[in-house]
Amino acid sequence: MTILALETSCDETSAAVVRDGKILSNTVASQIKLHAEYGGVVPELAAREHLKNFLPVAQAALSEAGISPAQLDAVAATQGPGLAIALLVGFKAAQAVAFALKKPFIGINHHEAHLYSPWISGNPPVTDFSEFQPNVSLIVSGGHTLLVLVKSELQHRVLGGTIDDAAGECFDKTGKLMGLAYPAGPLIDQLAEQGNPAAHDFPRPLLHDASDDFSFSGLKTSVRYFIRDHPALLDERQKVCDLCASVQAAIVEVLVKKTIRAARRNGVRCVTASGGVTCNRALRRELTRACEREGFILRLAERSLCTDNAAMIGVLAERKFLAQVPLPPLDEEINPGWVLA
Ligand code: KG4
Ligand code: ZN
Repeated sequence: MTILALETSCDETSAAVVRDGKILSNTVASQIKLHAEYGGVVPELAAREHLKNFLPVAQAALSEAGISPAQLDAVAATQGPGLAIALLVGFKAAQAVAFALKKPFIGINHHEAHLYSPWISGNPPVTDFSEFQPNVSLIVSGGHTLLVLVKSELQHRVLGGTIDDAAGECFDKTGKLMGLAYPAGPLIDQLAEQGNPAAHDFPRPLLHDASDDFSFSGLKTSVRYFIRDHPALLDERQKVCDLCASVQAAIVEVLVKKTIRAARRNGVRCVTASGGVTCNRALRRELTRACEREGFILRLAERSLCTDNAAMIGVLAERKFLAQVPLPPLDEEINPGWVLA
C-alpha cells in the first residue's frame, strides 16, 4: 500500500511517501536556524513555519516519490505527543487530504514511531522487519528520554523515562552554560572528540537506581556550579573540549548502562536506539561496544532518521493498516500529551 505521512510535532516539517515498507521519499524542512536565535523552540513560530512549509514539503515528497495524490491508499500524521499548535497543523492538514481523497486516515504516536525507525536502512531506505526480534529501545531527543520493551511488532511496554530533563535537553542546557549556540548537542559532540572524558568527574544520576528511569537536571546543576567556580576555563579551547567530553561521558554512561541492564533484565538480545541524541558519536560508539560485549544485536537509527521525520510515521502507519487496527473518526483531535504506555 502507498501512504502519505506527515510529521509536525516540534520543529521539523516532514512529509514522506511509504510504499510496502519502502521509503519512496522523506522530505524534511528543519527550523533549527529560526529557533536558534531564541535558544529553544518557540511554539508559535514553529506553527507558522509548519503552515508555510507544509504544502511545499508534501508536494516535494509526492513528486520525489513519483506518486500522484490519486495513487495514495491512505494518509497518516503524528497525533501526539508534541507541541499542540505545531501538531495541529500537520494533523489537521493530513485529515483534510484524507477527506478530499476519500482515503483512510490514522493518527500516530510519535514515540511509538521512533521504536521502528532503527529498522529502516539502506539506500533507498527499506524497512527490514524480517530480522525483527524483541528488543529494548532507547529513545533520546530534545524532548524525550524513554526506555521501551518492544515485545513484538506493535506490542510494547514503557520501562522508564526521564523524571526531569531529557538527555538532549541536558546537552543543550549544559552547552548554553558554556556559551554554545542552541542546539548545543551536535557542537558538544564535535568538541568532545578533542577532549578528555576523564578530565572532570560529573555525577551519573540514577545510574545505580533499580528503576529504568533517568534524571539529568542534577548533572546540569553540577555543571552550572562547576562553571561558576571555574569561569576562566571557558576562555581556553582545550578546557572547553575537556568539559564537553566529561559532560558527554556522564550522559552517555548513564544511557548505555541503563539500556544494557534493561535488556538483560528483560531477557532480550537486541537493543535499538533513535532520536536526535542518537546522532551522538560517543553514544553510538559506546552502545556498539557494550552490545558487542554482551553479544546483543544493535540497531541504531540511521543519522538522517534519528531526528524527527515522517518516514517513521509512515512505516508505523502501514504496519497498523496491515494489522487492521480500528481506524478513528476523521474529526479526531490531536493528543499533545499522549503518553506511550
Ligand atoms: O530528535 P530531535 O530532533 O527531537 C526534538 O526536537 O526533541 O532531537 C533534537 C535533540 C537536541 O537536543 C540536540 O541537541 C540533540 O538532539 N542532538 C545531539 C546531537 N545531535 C542532535 N545531542 C548530542 N550529540 C549529537 N550529535
Ligand atoms: Zn522525536
